[in-house]
Amino acid sequence: ATHKLLLLPGDGIGPEVMAEVRRVLAVIERKGLIAFEIDEDLVGGSAYDVHGKAISDEAVAKAHAADAVLLGAVGGPKWDGVAYEHRPEAGLLRLRKDLELFANLRPAICYPALADASALKRELVDGLDLMIVRELTGGVYFGEPKEITDLPNGQKRAVDTQVYETYEIERIAEVAFELARVRGNRVTSAEKRNVMKSGLLWNQVVTATHAQGYEDVKLDHMLADALGMQLVRAPKQFDVIVTDNLFGDILSDVASMLTGSLGMLPSASLGAEDPVTGKRKALYEPVHGSAPDIAGKGVANPLAMIASLAMALKYSLGKPDLADTLDRAIAAVLANGYRTGDIYVEGAKRVGTAEMGEAVAAA
Ligand code: NAI
Ligand code: MG
Repeated sequence: ATHKLLLLPGDGIGPEVMAEVRRVLAVIERKGLIAFEIDEDLVGGSAYDVHGKAISDEAVAKAHAADAVLLGAVGGPKWDGVAYEHRPEAGLLRLRKDLELFANLRPAICYPALADASALKRELVDGLDLMIVRELTGGVYFGEPKEITDLPNGQKRAVDTQVYETYEIERIAEVAFELARVRGNRVTSAEKRNVMKSGLLWNQVVTATHAQGYEDVKLDHMLADALGMQLVRAPKQFDVIVTDNLFGDILSDVASMLTGSLGMLPSASLGAEDPVTGKRKALYEPVHGSAPDIAGKGVANPLAMIASLAMALKYSLGKPDLADTLDRAIAAVLANGYRTGDIYVEGAKRVGTAEMGEAVAAA
């Protein structure tokens, strides 16, 4: 079967790192490992320059039809003066909303060759491979009421509301259990059931979902604060962590610092499973932005973008073995001393974006 890929390179270093994904895709196709139908379109400032908005309806329609969307990065000083609703980020936000991408996956992988760049000691992170699954479309970021009101005594009162309904917890729990099956088969669910009703419901629904067909996956529950502590004390104990929007935001930023470098981190955002085809809408992108300070110089690190392709192979294209091969190629290139500027260390082979992409393709 042919897999439909939509590439949205975007702005700044986005097109530079996406070119290296194309290089890797070409190797995969040449070896006959998968057949792709690859389309490309604009997003962010580059879309605004052409269409007057940060993503065209046509590009959104292509994203709906694709098996996986790969996005580079959006934004840059060129579009600072653009009206708020047309700012580059609006393109990304529209995609997330239109495709209903409720599950945000942020892996924290520590390549042995980069372990010394971690915020923790080498032995704590060497070989680390955990995945945070963050609920992205609910919780306290969206719940109503959400307001600041004036009180009669001259003070103010701020309210944010944490709301979760059963279906929202069920669907994120299912994503976590399914991911665990193609990883280490363990899920840790984090909430604060001791002080929050939403935490209590979260705990109950995750437990109930587990009992409905996911008993083969090992499930633990941990209070979110205790999990934060364990993440820094002994991160290798975790495989998949599933948590709500707010805790996931914080815990995934903590986890990112265990790995050493922003230029190395991929992410995925997944939507609901189509009841007929069993496929999910999915957007894969590096965690980093458009890096205007180095754009156009050919020095950006393409590994986060290439690792995002590996996630797409694993979670959207049904090729987990090929994904592992690609991840091993990245690890091998790093072990051979290849370094872009952001991860450079004394004595390493300093390379640019294209040389790094070529090295991965060759590996
Ligand atoms: P950034 O991630 O673009 O850059 C932060 C620092 O990391 C810079 O010094 C940059 O040179 C470096 N860096 C980032 N990725 C790198 C890579 N692959 N290789 C080597 N070095 C890399 O974040 P910043 O500077 O806060 O934002 C720049 C622009 O990107 C802004 O317009 C912002 O809105 C946008 N942005 C877009 C995101 C997205 O498209 N998802 C996410 C974050 C920021
Ligand atoms: Mg954050």
